[in-house]
Amino acid sequence: MQKTALITGASSGIGYAIAKALQTEGYQLIVTARRKDRLLDDAQVEVFPGDLSTEDFQDKLEDHIFQKYGRLDYLFNCAGMLETGPIETINLERMTAMLRLNVEATFRLTYKILKRFRQQGSGHIINISSVLGTKVRPTAGAYAASKFALEALSEALRMELAGTNIQVSCIEPGLVMTELHNNWEVHPKESMNIHEPLDVGNIVDAVLYILRQPGHVRIPRLMILPKDHNI
Ligand SMILES: NC(=O)c1ccc[n+]([C@@H]2O[C@H](COP(=O)([O-])OP(=O)(O)OC[C@H]3O[C@@H](n4cnc5c(N)ncnc54)[C@H](OP(=O)(O)O)[C@@H]3O)[C@@H](O)[C@H]2O)c1
Repeated sequence: MQKTALITGASSGIGYAIAKALQTEGYQLIVTARRKDRLLDDAQVEVFPGDLSTEDFQDKLEDHIFQKYGRLDYLFNCAGMLETGPIETINLERMTAMLRLNVEATFRLTYKILKRFRQQGSGHIINISSVLGTKVRPTAGAYAASKFALEALSEALRMELAGTNIQVSCIEPGLVMTELHNNWEVHPKESMNIHEPLDVGNIVDAVLYILRQPGHVRIPRLMILPKDHNI
């Protein structure tokens, strides 16, 4: 049977690359992000644009998927924002928007889809966390907090779902070349001295590795770093 996957943050970077790869693998995809014109345009791909931080949008997205397809096999939580700075001076509006998206919106969507997975008796949630879901560094406290939260949710779910056919995996990348750092004055590859950052293809390889595991195997966490990452 054709597998169905919902990919958030699918208009650029990691989410877009996962969408391209799963399209090639023959999945039925539902892709979402705010920028409709940046989402994959293909007969096999359902484009459902909107702001994931909005409760109403999430309700419509869920209703649409389950009315049209009746089920979902994979949820890829890729949508995310990155706002950094010392806690005393970080931009408060952008920090809270990040927490709303990375934590509240991701938790809400996971909660909703998990109930559907329970009803159908199977499903797989793949979270794009970060190496900063496992360690903190100065100026990244709020972003790391959002990814620590995702790790905590995933680890609790791993235990709550043990023995079922529903699973959760967290991918924990180091620096990946995407639009996430577009507005930075100094790109982290310079400040962190990373000569060869990861590319989205490296993350796709990690995703495909997770998806190809047999039914009795679980990959709860998978960290992937560039060679020069030294903190
Ligand atoms: N790049 C890295 O070095 C790196 C490392 C570790 C983890 N990550 C994580 O990887 C994930 C993907 O990031 P990326 O590197 O691929 O960055 P990206 O290219 O900036 O992609 C971010 C995605 O999130 C979507 N998004 C942002 N705000 C949204 C909102 N309110 N509603 C719906 N969608 C929204 C964006 O789409 P629209 O703007 O069109 O809405 C875009 O598709 C993030 O969770 C990030 O924290 C990235």
